[in-house]
Amino acid sequence: VKKLLNKKTIIFVTILSIIIIAISFILLNEKKEKTKVVYKHVENEVKKLYPNSYFKNKFPLQYNTYMQTELEAKTKFNGSVKETKFSVNKEPYLPILFNGYGFALDYNEDRGHVYAIEDVTKTLRVNDKSIGACLTCKSTAVPNLIEAMGDRYYNSSFKEDILPKAESLKHESIGCSDCHDPETMDLKVTRPHFVQAMGNKGIDVTKAPPAEMKNYVCGQCHVEYYFRSVQKRVTLPLRIGYTAAAGFGYYYAFSFMNEGDFKNTVSGTPILKAQHPDFETYMTGKHRERGANCVDCHMAKHTSPEGKEFRSHTMTSPLRDLDGTCLTCHKESTKEQVTKAIYDIQERHMKKLHAAQEISVRTHYYINKMITVGADSGEIAAVQSQVHYAQWYWDFVAAENSTGFHDPEGALANLEKSILSSKKALEIATTALQAKNVDINELELKIKERMKAVVDEPDSTKKKDHATNDYFPPMVEQ
Ligand code: HEC
Ligand code: HEC
Ligand code: HEC
Ligand code: HEC
Repeated sequence: VKKLLNKKTIIFVTILSIIIIAISFILLNEKKEKTKVVYKHVENEVKKLYPNSYFKNKFPLQYNTYMQTELEAKTKFNGSVKETKFSVNKEPYLPILFNGYGFALDYNEDRGHVYAIEDVTKTLRVNDKSIGACLTCKSTAVPNLIEAMGDRYYNSSFKEDILPKAESLKHESIGCSDCHDPETMDLKVTRPHFVQAMGNKGIDVTKAPPAEMKNYVCGQCHVEYYFRSVQKRVTLPLRIGYTAAAGFGYYYAFSFMNEGDFKNTVSGTPILKAQHPDFETYMTGKHRERGANCVDCHMAKHTSPEGKEFRSHTMTSPLRDLDGTCLTCHKESTKEQVTKAIYDIQERHMKKLHAAQEISVRTHYYINKMITVGADSGEIAAVQSQVHYAQWYWDFVAAENSTGFHDPEGALANLEKSILSSKKALEIATTALQAKNVDINELELKIKERMKAVVDEPDSTKKKDHATNDYFPPMVEQ
């Protein structure tokens, strides 16, 4: 017995039981999520959709303003035009940072709601392998398809199965029925992923007060998500909280995402890609504490010619209608002051975002060099882990749509974390490379060359091809 109970055995048994408990916790969680939402599996029972035209005569003010989301207009950093994020004044190095993933090929700014279906079917990120889940936040057919098909909706072929089904239902791009109960016109969350994710936090979205519903109907789509395990169900990592740190923690505690969404071609580093966390950045921002919601800033208050107050359904940048948005609260301010307040925040934000992305680019190339000169694999892993962390933190603020406005302080803090982590990565890498007699000045020059080649390439879909060359060979097979 004494022999059995020696120190090594005790440590071994303890570690083993921790692993067993952790695995069963993860499995139990997966099972719990599976059983929470019960879908009918009857495909031929797809209900008819309520088309926007059904509401046109009853609610002309809302209908007409909704149709105006097709109007194009630019603001300094955002607005409603289809344009690539890769241009110099935006984020020119994304084709390097997302190399090996669809976001290095085609990544556009968002525009009006009426374009969602057109844009998802035309993006080069959607190909023959894409799945139904990609349509989830675009089409009025989705709630019906999920009800009829259950989990099969998510991982069925986008092009062969789901899009044709939605088209046969005459679906529309983000219509009235996506946010309203079509009979009572009460606000309604129609996407099960949001109900479930908030349910996991103990918040029953179906019983939310009206003021909060004004955030939830938007939050169901404007939120970070991933496709969970085999069924590829759309899942939101909200359980721990709304911050970048909580999202990062979630992916390690509750998902099977330890390998990231993809491996960066330049450095072989597993990367988590963030997706438009507008809801999260709003939730942690100061304007939430001040009682503002998505509607106050994105659905301008208008009065009809008959004197009836209503909300403009042209959901867009507040800069396009400051009277109906910011100035409804900031009654003492002028348009110029409010515009300046937004631009000051956004300019500060972009400066820091550019700094975070540029240092992140360098870290990927330093790793590339470590691999080609045969640096110690433990050291390479240590640098990759810093890079993985750093990229999540800048991406969480880059992928949300307000250029820092929703949570200015939170965004700057995340960028600071990202930069610190990248600096640590460069420190470890520099020491390792110098030990292998690598000329760091030459390395930096070669990096600048790649960055310039990516910027100089006029075809946005070809920029990614300049990220690697003979000096920096790809580390992941394409
Ligand atoms: C206090 C005001 C405020 C609140 C509240 C707010 N936003 Fe914003 N939002 C802004 C500003 C300002 C911008 C930047 C607009 C620009 O640069 O043109 C913005 C930008 C956006 C954009 C990109 C617009 C574009 O032109 O591309 C989206 C999408 C967005 N917000 C969604 C949301 C959602 C969803 C919520 C609620 C969860 C929300 N916002 C809450 C002020 C707000
Ligand atoms: C993306 C979500 C969304 C879509 C799509 C949407 N609405 Fe709304 N609707 C809202 C929100 C949010 C409010 C504001 C509720 C409030 O202020 O209490 C609202 C308010 C309304 C109101 C109440 C009066 C008002 O203007 O505040 C009516 C009526 C209405 N919408 C009709 C429509 C019609 C018709 C359509 C389709 C053409 C539509 N909505 C599309 C979210 C949406
Ligand atoms: C069913 C999903 C869905 C819902 C619900 C939704 N959005 Fe959107 N929203 C989108 C998508 C997708 C886009 C991008 C469309 C594109 O670029 O083709 C978008 C774009 C936007 C934009 C950019 C428009 C522009 O002019 O640049 C704003 C602002 C916005 N949404 C605000 C809101 C607000 C506010 C709500 C809630 C009242 C809301 N959205 C609800 C999916 C949704
Ligand atoms: C629902 C009301 C409401 C809306 C809508 C609103 N704000 Fe505010 N805002 C406040 C309150 C309350 C404060 C805090 C008191 C103050 O400083 O006046 C505040 C503070 C600010 C500040 C002070 C600086 C800071 O962040 O600490 C700025 C700048 C600002 N708002 C800009 C805007 C802009 C730009 C918009 C439109 C995109 C907007 N606000 C929309 C209520 C609102």
